[in-house]
Amino acid sequence: MTTASWAGRSFEAEVGAVAHGGHCVARVEGRVVFVRHALPGERVRVEVTEDKGGSFCRADAVEVLEPAPERVEPPCPVAGPGLCGGCDWQHATPEFQRELKARVVAEQLQRLAGLDIPVVVEALPGGPLDWRTRARLVVGKAGRAGFRAHHSHRVIEIDDCPISVPAALEPVLSRRWRPGSELEVTSDGDGQIHVRELGMVRGKRRARQIQGGLAVQHAAGRDWKLDAHGFWQVHPAAADTFAEVAGDWAEAPEGGLVWDLYAGVGLFASVLAGQVGPDGEVVAVESGRRAVSDGERALSDLPQVRWRSGRVEHVIRELPGSPSVVVLDPPRAGAGRAVVESIVERAPARVVYVACDPAALARDLATFGAHGYRLERLRAFDAFPMTHHVECVALVVPKTVGGPGHDGPREPTG
Ligand SMILES: C[S@@+](CC[C@H](N)C(=O)[O-])C[C@H]1O[C@@H](n2cnc3c(N)ncnc32)[C@H](O)[C@@H]1O
Repeated sequence: MTTASWAGRSFEAEVGAVAHGGHCVARVEGRVVFVRHALPGERVRVEVTEDKGGSFCRADAVEVLEPAPERVEPPCPVAGPGLCGGCDWQHATPEFQRELKARVVAEQLQRLAGLDIPVVVEALPGGPLDWRTRARLVVGKAGRAGFRAHHSHRVIEIDDCPISVPAALEPVLSRRWRPGSELEVTSDGDGQIHVRELGMVRGKRRARQIQGGLAVQHAAGRDWKLDAHGFWQVHPAAADTFAEVAGDWAEAPEGGLVWDLYAGVGLFASVLAGQVGPDGEVVAVESGRRAVSDGERALSDLPQVRWRSGRVEHVIRELPGSPSVVVLDPPRAGAGRAVVESIVERAPARVVYVACDPAALARDLATFGAHGYRLERLRAFDAFPMTHHVECVALVVPKTVGGPGHDGPREPTG
């Protein structure tokens, strides 16, 4: 049966629960409508923005008929229907944004991992604005930089971005660029701004460093120098916060073997190295060659950190020994079944999982659960205020005492 597309249709709707991805669910004529710019409990007029057929379509709330008590005026002039796709919750109080994220994390854990646990999303210091230290902008037809509209290639040119660190975007917003190029901006731990332009030159993608290039960051009691456009946490308080929680929960034994998977430049490896001491060993696995060389340089005073350059899913199978602790911080897709199975095969006593996508975390927790491990603790942080993103840190341990998992000193594997 073919049904006419709802795209462009406008109707009133009662807004229901929040869903993962920065929208809420409304049910209309037997279909699910994912509504952006609305809050649970509101009555709104929506306009359907995308309908690919099937059981759901996407819509924007274009008029609020009965507002929720948590609704506020967005501080950004380009936050709203059809405008910048960068933020999702500018129209909610910061407290309610965290409540929405907590509901999403709890729902993902329940649905994908069968875990019923109360979730609290904690604020990081600094408030909901002026926190973003890294951004990727695109250049519109007129040569001015901006962000893409939600689910669209359309460029929304901007004069400012209130969630970004003040003045971070000034070097890219104060001039014109080649239309179609992308601009990566990083404000580092010393407030230096780094700008790289990514564009097509004679059919090939080229990166041109416009300003800076080597970032300085300060976290976990160390100074780091790294590629300004390589991975580093976006929120200024995030690296220290996650390193502290990961360290507290890892409890790596002195002289022990531990793994830091998806290590970046070795933020967690540096903390773990302090715990295992000079007689222990931290194996840091990272696929980015530049991150590995930056990490080797940054941690050259910690010879117990051994770097392995390559993809975790391949390297992990060849790693010798049985780590007592594994810390992993995979990209959005999560670690996946094969990596989780490789971890549990070595029976670590503790696994600390740092996750930027609660759905991927929940899927991986389900795999841990099927292999004799359970979620022991979970903390969630609002490391991306105004957006739907949320960072979780999970401690995973063997289900039974004396089951999979071991602890204590070991011989380094060399
Ligand atoms: C979320 S970042 C974590 C970095 C580091 N833990 C930190 O907090 O700074 C994920 C890292 O994993 C790396 N990565 C992505 N996929 C990978 C893979 N399959 N194998 C190894 N590293 C990977 C990325 O280059 C990135 O540095």
